[in-house]
Amino acid sequence: MYIYLMKSKTLSFQLGIFESLAELPKEDQDLINLASQARENAYAPYSNFKVGAAVLLENKQVVIGSNQENASYPSGLCAERVAVFQAGAKFPGIPILKIAIVASSDKTPAREPAAPCGNCRQSIFEYENRQEKPIELLLMGGEGSIYKCHSIQDILPLAFGSDSLG
Ligand code: THU
Repeated sequence: MYIYLMKSKTLSFQLGIFESLAELPKEDQDLINLASQARENAYAPYSNFKVGAAVLLENKQVVIGSNQENASYPSGLCAERVAVFQAGAKFPGIPILKIAIVASSDKTPAREPAAPCGNCRQSIFEYENRQEKPIELLLMGGEGSIYKCHSIQDILPLAFGSDSLG
């Protein structure tokens, strides 16, 4: 443990853990099911790791995405960014309420949810910061428990945003 001579702050967050879909409200179950369906359309011949995302907007519309890979690996895009960019393009200015993400390889179904990668956290934060309302995350693996985060900032503390640019 570090002893700081100056001030220090501990940053923490509460992660909701649900053992099954049935424990969640219907709205969350529906969104996770849509993310799961979206995952079927992942184009992931290189990693075989398929991810589906479903974004629920304040106007009740749902926008989906799945990871789209490329032979030139960095040219591919994650499911979360496909979904939030599509939401921004189709429904500009409509706040995002929540995002469900279902991520797993088909060969070895993950029992633990996979959290969004750093680039996706940053991209989702841009929307949260702009709309000044938290974006809730629902995360699921191939099977098993579901994690719920209240805000993208929970998993991206000290985020870099437009405010940082001055
Ligand atoms: N992937 C996502 O779609 N979302 C993430 O947050 C992490 C990774 C995709 C990218 C790539 O197609 C595959 O999963 C393996 O990294």
